[in-house]
Amino acid sequence: MSRRPGNFPSRRDNGGAFFAFNGKSRNAPYFPIFLIVLGALLIFAYLYRGSGEFGGNKWALSRIEGDFACTVEVQRAIPVLKKAYGDSMRKVLHVGPDTCSVVSKLLKEEETEAWGVEPYDIEDVDGHCRALVQKGTVRFADIKFPLPYRPKSFSLVIVSDALDYLSPRYLNKTLPDLARVSIEGLVIFTGFPGQHRAKVAEVSKFGRAAKLRSSTWWARYFIQTSLEENEVALKKFEHAAAKKSYNPGCQVFHLKAYN
Ligand SMILES: *[C@@H]1O[C@H](CO)[C@@H](O)[C@H](O)[C@H]1NC(C)=O
Repeated sequence: MSRRPGNFPSRRDNGGAFFAFNGKSRNAPYFPIFLIVLGALLIFAYLYRGSGEFGGNKWALSRIEGDFACTVEVQRAIPVLKKAYGDSMRKVLHVGPDTCSVVSKLLKEEETEAWGVEPYDIEDVDGHCRALVQKGTVRFADIKFPLPYRPKSFSLVIVSDALDYLSPRYLNKTLPDLARVSIEGLVIFTGFPGQHRAKVAEVSKFGRAAKLRSSTWWARYFIQTSLEENEVALKKFEHAAAKKSYNPGCQVFHLKAYN
């Protein structure tokens, strides 16, 4: 075996302290080349950062662009929801894109069990999410059809982003079904009209472009479908939000479950 030339002996001789200096004289000619290559890589990364061509980044990008805006909002709102709903947060179902992130966050809360329904195909789930799917904690389900749960399976149901992609015809079925599986209520996070949503190229993922409805549209819709807004929960939520200086980036509606 040939003796390895270079740094190791000198490092030992100098007690390690002069390693960098010894190494420097040897590596000096390569250092500028290293910097040029690093610079080129950084420029490359910068130029391509928005195009989604770096493997598996599409979801991360669309999350920032707004497809998941209200799912991210749910995560921010958890402390406020806990304050407002207290005991009703013990068995939570979240329905919406990227539900794994919400379920993981809820599971970190004390005295909260959580489940999730992922309404859309996702190509690149991470290992943590895959584990939740394997355990049955998170399920893939098309929410245009009845959810795979018995009536009153959860104390609270939270839905984000998903309803924006449903036409009234499907909303008529899905919304009552969400209320069906809840004991104490339904919280809806939905985009404000005018918020940026899925680009046309991505619409196939959701079935149709998002339709962001105004709060008056929703209020009228709830009355039409005999769903009652939960004034008490709304008051508590707004009180807790003010206390925690939380300002939701989405519309938040609180509905009563069926008796
Ligand atoms: C949805 O349900 C409401 C109330 O039952 C009804 O008035 C409305 O026509 C329905 N919309 C569609 C598109 O089916």
